[in-house]
Amino acid sequence: MIDVQNLSKRYGGFTAVDDISFRVEPGRIVGFLGPNGAGKTTTMRVLTCFLPPSRGTVKIAGFDVLETPMEVKRRVGYLPETPPLYPDMAVEGYLRFVGEIKEVPKAELEDRVERAMKRCAVLDVRGKLIAKLSKGYRQRVGLAQALLHDPEVLILDEPTSGLDPKQILETRDLIRELAGEHTIILSTHILPEVEQTCEEVVIINKGKVVATDSVENLRNRLRGGEAALVEIGFGGQTPTADTVRAVLAGAHGASNVVLREQRGGRLLFEVESAPNANLRPALAATIVGNGWELYEMKSLAYSLEEVFLQVTRGDSAETDEALLEAPAEDLDAGAEGDNTEPEVQA
Ligand SMILES: Nc1ncnc2c1ncn2[C@@H]1O[C@H](COP(=O)(O)OP(=O)(O)OP(=O)(O)O)[C@@H](O)[C@H]1O
Ligand SMILES: [Mg+2]
Repeated sequence: MIDVQNLSKRYGGFTAVDDISFRVEPGRIVGFLGPNGAGKTTTMRVLTCFLPPSRGTVKIAGFDVLETPMEVKRRVGYLPETPPLYPDMAVEGYLRFVGEIKEVPKAELEDRVERAMKRCAVLDVRGKLIAKLSKGYRQRVGLAQALLHDPEVLILDEPTSGLDPKQILETRDLIRELAGEHTIILSTHILPEVEQTCEEVVIINKGKVVATDSVENLRNRLRGGEAALVEIGFGGQTPTADTVRAVLAGAHGASNVVLREQRGGRLLFEVESAPNANLRPALAATIVGNGWELYEMKSLAYSLEEVFLQVTRGDSAETDEALLEAPAEDLDAGAEGDNTEPEVQA
């Protein structure tokens, strides 16, 4: 549905987006993750025909952004970083106005406006001036304008930025609901956003794609081994923690064992595995084999934060190993662009 091949975008002599490629399949929801200045907004502007690419091709539903921009715009709804709202207009009037700009057929306009307001839960403020809306409601109106012409693709630039925690959850729910019917790319520099909302992630840093994968695979791929937390009880005499630790360390695939807690007669250990080992079954067999009681075992997922720091650490993006070994650097190295002017998509 979205096909980006070798896209570069230069501002004068500065390369903001440098030879990036990725694809998004229909109905998927993809997180475009990167620190400030990574090139997220620039890429989204090219995808939505607001900026021409300097090099490479971008196709939406098979239509090229340079050759057939009207076909692309018909299929794309865009929520820019700053929603393109007119404060002096009332919500419903504004959405009708956007519908006219987007050339929604007159006979369908009322129905489309009504549906978009319902979808984005702004029916209760339909008569209110946009200037008087809370930030969360403005964001919903922004989403409603992006949805108005029922586009196949939604491009949402930091859709939850500046919202309060409740509004963030509501907006994420709404985006997830939209995902089945639409193909969605949303940008964010907030990791839990990607983990909670998206199926796939494209990580971008300093204009380059440093990783693209499913959220789950990426976590697994970069962490190598896994870690598990086990809670063990002992029916009769309790052995020393050191004894238990040594036995667990002998389980196939275990590489590091740390005592986390002593709870009554029970011991809690965190066990790390070597890469590609199938740790948990071996651990369970060892515990039960020693006549101990296994109260709990759970896999400790590495946070996407760790992954993100790993892949955005250096300039080299050739291999995961290179990334892991690259020297640490300031994540906010890129300057913020002056790109907050409101826009209305025609
Ligand atoms: N109109 C412009 N003219 C010149 N440079 C620009 C322009 N817009 C953006 N840039 C630069 O391009 C780079 C990428 O900016 P972009 O806005 O795409 O990043 P971003 O990933 O969206 O960042 P943020 O998380 O801060 O929104 C930055 O270094 C920025 O300063
Ligand atoms: Mg941006």
